[in-house]
Amino acid sequence: MAIAIYRKYRPKLFEDLIGQELVVQILKNAAKSDRISHAYLFYGPRGTGKTTAARIVAKIANCETRAGDPKFKVKGEPCNKCRACKEIDEGRAIDVAEIDAASNRGIDEIRSLKEGIRLSPTSYRYKVFIIDEAHQLTKFAADALLKILEEPPAHAIFILATTEYEKLSATIVSRTQRFHFRRVPTQAILKKLNQIALAEKIEIDTAALELIATAAEGSFRDAESLFEQVTSLAGGTGLENVEQILGKVGFVRTAALAGYLLDNDLEASLEYLAEINESGFNLVQLNKDLIHYLRRVLTLKFDPQLEEVFKRELTPDEIVEIKKHGEMAKDPDKIINLIKSLIRAYSEMRYSPFTLVPLEIAIIENLKSSSK
Ligand SMILES: Nc1ncnc2c1ncn2[C@@H]1O[C@H](COP(=O)(O)OP(=O)(O)O)[C@@H](O)[C@H]1O
Ligand SMILES: [Mg+2]
Ligand SMILES: [Zn+2]
Repeated sequence: MAIAIYRKYRPKLFEDLIGQELVVQILKNAAKSDRISHAYLFYGPRGTGKTTAARIVAKIANCETRAGDPKFKVKGEPCNKCRACKEIDEGRAIDVAEIDAASNRGIDEIRSLKEGIRLSPTSYRYKVFIIDEAHQLTKFAADALLKILEEPPAHAIFILATTEYEKLSATIVSRTQRFHFRRVPTQAILKKLNQIALAEKIEIDTAALELIATAAEGSFRDAESLFEQVTSLAGGTGLENVEQILGKVGFVRTAALAGYLLDNDLEASLEYLAEINESGFNLVQLNKDLIHYLRRVLTLKFDPQLEEVFKRELTPDEIVEIKKHGEMAKDPDKIINLIKSLIRAYSEMRYSPFTLVPLEIAIIENLKSSSK
């Protein structure tokens, strides 16, 4: 794999942006009717497609095929074949500037932007300025940007991206057209990882892929870099290896431990816990996963409709497992007490030099009287 997965598989069309249907629909409609705004704000968690969408907007604005062919224009997509589209995809378009406000707080960039802004584009119709992590601009830079946004030249388009919407000044926000990028469902991430694995001819266990997708917590970028890390290291793509790399046990082990607990099998629970501990996993993380797991078992028992919500985060097999454990646990109070103890253990573990002990004690306390 010569180029990073996340670059190679960066969507080139609006249509390929997964999980952002509303954003895609509005941007496509704007593209179809040529109503491109002068200032956009893309906000939402990392790795959800903000920079990707910004580049597609830059292509829409400058695509030569679109400009010359009214039939093509109705697609609301860039052609990805003309010079402008290609240069923008390859990140070497002179008229498309990506400014990272996080690395140098944007002072020099905004200053030179201010100076250069009135000049027409060199080779395109529009100059596009993509300002990443816009909330990190210094006050000076943000003020300068605001001035520009108050009266943007006709040939300029600004796309601000941020993971922290609240930190942007309201005056800047009010000058932009805003789009919220959502955290992506695990299922959607899993689907894309599967496609990448297929395209790259990489064999990887389903459970391993699921663990990567879950660990990414809604971020495609995280998922794709984890995937790359896992597949480029020696040791194979089995679940255990992936667990080692992430330092995190997968759903399978969390569910197995939960199963022993719900089955009141104290001996098996402690043995399994010891085994996980010896393999060097982060027990604080394990406890967190366990709390989440049991909480799902409990809430799903009381409200079956939650299944729809869980579908965003879990695979169908995982939901089956959770339901099974719900049926197994006849007494909800038992799960409630268990969760309470685990939460208590969680705060103790974080400050304890022996992370294993609070977890063990919590388990023993809960199971000792009912254990078989
Ligand atoms: N909505 C999405 N659909 C498909 N892939 C995505 C999506 N969002 C992000 N990606 C993948 O993650 C990588 C990083 O995305 P990026 O647009 O830079 O995220 P952001 O700017 O929101 O942090 C992309 O190159 C792409 O491979
Ligand atoms: Mg980005
Ligand atoms: Zn084009």
